[in-house]
Amino acid sequence: MRTKKVVGDAQVKLGKSLVNQMAILFKTSQIHDPTNVAMIQPTERLIQTIKELMSADGESVTGEGELTLELKGDYLFLNSMKLKMDIEGFVSFMFIIDEFKKRGIGSLAFGQDIGPEEIKRFCGFFATVDLKQSNPFQALEQLLQRAQMVNVVIGPIEETFEREGSDDPFQDSKELAKNTYFKTITAVSEVMQSVKLKQAASFKKAKRIVQSMVDLILQEDSTLLGLTNLRCHDEYTYNHSVNVCILALAMGQRLGYNRKRLSELGMAALFHDLGKSEIPLEVLNKPSEFTEDEWSIMRRHPIFSVKGVVRLKGVNDLSISVTIVACEHHLNYDLSGYPRLASKRPVSLLGRIISIVDCYDALTSSRVYNRVPFPPDRALRFMLNKAGTAFDPILIKIFVNAIGVYPIGTMVFLNTKEIGVVFATPPSIANGDRPKVKLVVDAGGHEIDGEVVDLGKLDPKTQAPLRTIVKTIDASKYKIDVSKYFL
Ligand SMILES: [Fe+2]
Ligand SMILES: [Fe+2]
Repeated sequence: MRTKKVVGDAQVKLGKSLVNQMAILFKTSQIHDPTNVAMIQPTERLIQTIKELMSADGESVTGEGELTLELKGDYLFLNSMKLKMDIEGFVSFMFIIDEFKKRGIGSLAFGQDIGPEEIKRFCGFFATVDLKQSNPFQALEQLLQRAQMVNVVIGPIEETFEREGSDDPFQDSKELAKNTYFKTITAVSEVMQSVKLKQAASFKKAKRIVQSMVDLILQEDSTLLGLTNLRCHDEYTYNHSVNVCILALAMGQRLGYNRKRLSELGMAALFHDLGKSEIPLEVLNKPSEFTEDEWSIMRRHPIFSVKGVVRLKGVNDLSISVTIVACEHHLNYDLSGYPRLASKRPVSLLGRIISIVDCYDALTSSRVYNRVPFPPDRALRFMLNKAGTAFDPILIKIFVNAIGVYPIGTMVFLNTKEIGVVFATPPSIANGDRPKVKLVVDAGGHEIDGEVVDLGKLDPKTQAPLRTIVKTIDASKYKIDVSKYFL
């Protein structure tokens, strides 16, 4: 199928809504048959987006009046344009990718004369095709041919394809980190949903994904740490769990952990709040302060976690670490906190690590019941003040060492009157105040998509640093969402 490259903001936006609407429609057709009234509205919305894409900016996107969505590896392309996944869209993206893979679909093309009837019939076939047979793609294709569909054409998945990544290795590793991040969110949400429904969940998928996170961390790639700046309010618990996992891995790496121990630490971090799946949503997402009763429910989540792990398939060493961490992560170094222990035993090493990274992510994010997020450097100062009481005094120093004095995502004002966002921390803590910074506001106060500059760079003539941090800026005060610089 021939496609033509199209680039443009409007198309990018429309492309995202196409994926989202397709996901809604496919999900609806899994419950309702094509003639059901529930299918009407999502079908019309999808058709409208398809038509808009076909005639975006007054000129045909394809030149042939055709729109093709392709799956290559773990990415979706719309008429050869790679669709970027973001935090709002990841659920739909993952869903479409999964459903295409289950059916062996590599491309889905809509013809110019596509109408609601064809879309609805296609959805019916898509939902009902038997996935257990050896070649669901062929079966689906036959159904489409028999129904003489001319405006919906599917193509098989290509096992080997030429990677259409950019020539920029940084861009590629960024994409890989992003993809892993979103996959981890999906994996943790699946386990937590099963626990909520009292089903036997499995750690298998999550374990595989945590292993790829470990690989990324071991490559000393700062992209993954940058992604902890993503804030997803609707999916706070999943988003928080993944951030805690990344931060814990960064710390584990500083502690010299090997691959096996890192993966154990990552899993324990990912599921530290497993028990939150048992807390009623009205309490979990309450926008105002908790009442004493609500607090007492919230304080039970470590115990709910323990019960959740017990229900998981097969108890092994890994589930024991997950249980211990879930139980201990709100216990302080001095054993205050919760749950109350009958016998006073010191908190385990894993528990002490997670309690640090958990607190840091909670402080720096604006979950519903924590209205004003702390900027990263303030969160660190606040936590350092509790060294020896709430936190292990040595581990907290190692944590600062791992994420830097100016953690990735910190907004900084420079002596050049430019404003930047910390993009990568320097390899040595001795140069901790000289990270790599992406310039986002120029000296004239204009927002820019500037270059990434190394604050460690010296002026060749004077040997003085070219740029220096004057102060940090509280991004939330200025209503700046720093996460956009990491996507
Ligand atoms: Fe917790
Ligand atoms: Fe937590």
